[in-house]
Amino acid sequence: MAATERVPMAAPHLQYLSHKAEIDAAVSKTLAGGQYMLGPECQALEGEIARLCGASYGLGVNSGTDALALILAAFGVGDGDEVITTPFTFFATAEVIENLGAVPVFVDIDPQTFNLDPRRVEAAVTEKTKAIMPVHLFGQMADMDALGEIAKEYRLPVIEDAAQALGATFKDRPAGSFGDATGISFFPTKNLGACGDAGMVVTSREEVKEAVRLLRFHGSGGAGTYEQLGVNSRLDDVQAAILRVKLPHLEEWNGKRIAHAARYDAALKGTRYSIPYRDPRCKHIFHHYTLRTPERDAVQAFLEERGVDSRVYYAVPLHRQPVFEDLGYREGDLRNCDEAAEEVLSLPVFPELTESQQDRVINALLEYDRTH
Ligand SMILES: Cc1ncc(COP(=O)(O)O)c(C=O)c1O
Repeated sequence: MAATERVPMAAPHLQYLSHKAEIDAAVSKTLAGGQYMLGPECQALEGEIARLCGASYGLGVNSGTDALALILAAFGVGDGDEVITTPFTFFATAEVIENLGAVPVFVDIDPQTFNLDPRRVEAAVTEKTKAIMPVHLFGQMADMDALGEIAKEYRLPVIEDAAQALGATFKDRPAGSFGDATGISFFPTKNLGACGDAGMVVTSREEVKEAVRLLRFHGSGGAGTYEQLGVNSRLDDVQAAILRVKLPHLEEWNGKRIAHAARYDAALKGTRYSIPYRDPRCKHIFHHYTLRTPERDAVQAFLEERGVDSRVYYAVPLHRQPVFEDLGYREGDLRNCDEAAEEVLSLPVFPELTESQQDRVINALLEYDRTH
């Protein structure tokens, strides 16, 4: 790589290029086969992802966003209902709640893990609460023991947002095996990424599987009768075929992310940067490697000058987004989240990141640390 080339945050085309022959063959076979929607590749992938997640069923849908939306609809979440979730996540997590006429109830995060703080969840349960939706942020799972206990006590379903955590574990059990249902994203830059939008619902509850099966297909079981209203949200076989070629490499790719993370940790020891905390019960698969530093904006600008891309996930937490203004949250209400939003900085950690690219990231961070 020429020294002037930027170090990118992600490079999903590299996975295509290194598995080109296999992916091209799988796509060609699917195109020649003529079954393009919910066909054999999709069905096979549903089984494979369900197994990986320790769940009984998988249902391919258009996106991770749709996976979450259809799960909520399957649980009958609607007008005026409340769903407890985290404010420190991608917008879709709360968007799907509000889109159903329900209310996202934002609970503060644990400042170490950035995940929903179970100690605060119980206080947020009301008669209107219909579900708890933790997000396994940046590839590390939320405290599923504590959340599971609260859910059990109040008889609430747990919906895992595992968009960033396919292959992550909590006490050796995979993301997707704890909740009543789980939403997964195969967005191209996710740990397992398609070449377009794609997502999946996994669940071990037969009635949830049946409900999502109807909902994703206009509310129809498929025989020309429509039992209810649904949407059009089906996974296509070209994406499924690509994902099936990539799936056997997921563990190796997650392993590379973990190795990059360990290398960052070692290099940044003793500097001003706080490295990501690991919950010892978890296998963190580093969808993002996220530092904390009070000088975040200056550090990011410095990296930018040195040709290194970085991102702030998430600069404006959901409780302070304009669209949720009417929910009445103010700066300071969810202090841990607000503080994290000021300090977090995610670095390139994609599997194909080379040693010399990572050295450029590290050297720029160390140079800032020495000179400021
Ligand atoms: C935490 C989280 N939830 C939901 C989504 C939505 O997934 P998608 O982009 O596939 O709709 C994403 C990713 O984009 C995400 O990171």
